Amino acid sequence: MTETMQVRVGAVEHLGRVLAFDLEPVEGVLPQWQAGAHVDLLLGDGLIRQYSLCGDPANRSCYRLAVLLDEASRGGSRAVHETVRPGALLQIGAPRNLFPLKATDDYSVLIGGGIGVTPLIAMAHELWDRGATFALHYVARDPVFAEVLRNTPFAQNVTVYDRGVAGSVRFDPAPVLRGQDAGGTHVYTCGPIALMDAVAEAAVAAGFEEGRIHREAFSALPIAGGSGFEVVAARCGVRVQVSPEESITAALARAGVKVQVSCEQGICGTCVVDLIEGEADHRDEYLTEDERGEQIALCCSRARSSLLVVDL
Ligand code: FES
Repeated sequence: MTETMQVRVGAVEHLGRVLAFDLEPVEGVLPQWQAGAHVDLLLGDGLIRQYSLCGDPANRSCYRLAVLLDEASRGGSRAVHETVRPGALLQIGAPRNLFPLKATDDYSVLIGGGIGVTPLIAMAHELWDRGATFALHYVARDPVFAEVLRNTPFAQNVTVYDRGVAGSVRFDPAPVLRGQDAGGTHVYTCGPIALMDAVAEAAVAAGFEEGRIHREAFSALPIAGGSGFEVVAARCGVRVQVSPEESITAALARAGVKVQVSCEQGICGTCVVDLIEGEADHRDEYLTEDERGEQIALCCSRARSSLLVVDL
């Protein structure tokens, strides 16, 4: 994980099941960030969750986060909703960006579903500040950010698809992308996997090259899959078979080796260990290319060789 810093909760707003709040510096100024970035929020007891920054990157006075209370919460969103109050002190990591805007004047189409619109709101701010042209399409059953977006200077660039309205039909990205100048446009999407897949499919059908289709990296790669392989935890002297359906951490847990995890999505680096032998199939978004030769994120990675030996 990156270095952490202490911040104070400023304004807090309830938007339906979403808690939106500002994080202000306790001292000094907050590090600069760019649209698409997220921060690690340390929630106590080793619980770390990643949330996209959804304010205006030009506003250096605070970070804005918005967290949906997820009924299937593994503890993260529930902890946020229970502990975030004005004035509370929190520990966060520095912003990291796995979903940046391209540095170009090309037209941008932003398509966000549900809470997945949050990084796209930041992108819309950044594009507006740059003077770039763009359209933001926001699809949700309960479009809680509609009012927020109506009050932005770029409100005329926003289309809201309220799927909670009786008689509403499934959002189809094809008409949005068809007819765009595929060679002069970038598409950014974030939200449910099905929506992102539909956007990518429609973009390819409209003539977009892969390099112009960008999706939020969280959970983008399947954690299981492929064929099974063996893992040896060298220091523990444990050897386990990892089936195609399970993660390395799950297989090791079966054999009594507990690996510390947090995000379980390859984002935070908590589960990273040294790789002693074998070739990893890296599925994380944490390690750099250089680190990938020597380390592995056990929560999400697979193997290209039949055996991996890790320093555990
Ligand atoms: Fe976060 Fe593996 S637990 S990268």
